[in-house]
Amino acid sequence: GKRIGLIGAMDEEIRQLRSELQMESTEERAGITFYIGEINGSSVVLCRSGVGKVNAAVTTQILIDAFEVSHILFTGIAGALDKSLQVGDMVISSSAMQHDMDATALGFPKGQIPMQSTSSIFQADSGLVELAFRSAERILSCRILKGRILSGDQFIADLHTAQTLYDEFTGACVEMEGAAVAQVATMSEIPFVIIRAISDNANEQASMSFTEFTELASKQSHILVMEMLSSW
Ligand code: ADE
Repeated sequence: GKRIGLIGAMDEEIRQLRSELQMESTEERAGITFYIGEINGSSVVLCRSGVGKVNAAVTTQILIDAFEVSHILFTGIAGALDKSLQVGDMVISSSAMQHDMDATALGFPKGQIPMQSTSSIFQADSGLVELAFRSAERILSCRILKGRILSGDQFIADLHTAQTLYDEFTGACVEMEGAAVAQVATMSEIPFVIIRAISDNANEQASMSFTEFTELASKQSHILVMEMLSSW
């Protein structure tokens, strides 16, 4: 049957969802608490992965193997790379890649995972992307962009790096988990989508903006996830 793995990296990103969850049980694995139940009539397993690609990958693999989720939805906040995006706007992943993968010294293009049979650009499930986009259009008045999400184990906080990431990989936004979720889901052929609300512009003001707008951006993500779950 249908069972949706719902992941956020930080407490702010899943707190509101947890309050909407009709909880059946909780289980702990690898130090992560998994909340099992229903939201808006959908069967879900909700969890907080923690920050970064390793945490995101471990959490995703556990959702697939131990909880046998059929779909994965990652929700949270990100820094904007596309100049048309402002704080509170939404990005829906058409694809995701790891911007900090770098084996250029061996002759591989920047961002490419060496000796990997799959593409290093992981495609989100087109049905889930459309569900997210249509849900967002129905319920949010902000800008909604379908685009590539870049992930790396770095909080990006300077304009030059942000500009370089945009130029090299045409990323709409940058965060620290999505592409790890995307890779793990792809390896097990589980459909996924990542939705991110913009909290900052990945520039010199990023840390201040992040602190100020985490709550607001998390709320945007939350509203969209709830709308998606009601028409899943
Ligand atoms: N998440 C939110 N803003 C971010 C940034 N500027 N860099 C990485 N992850 C982020």
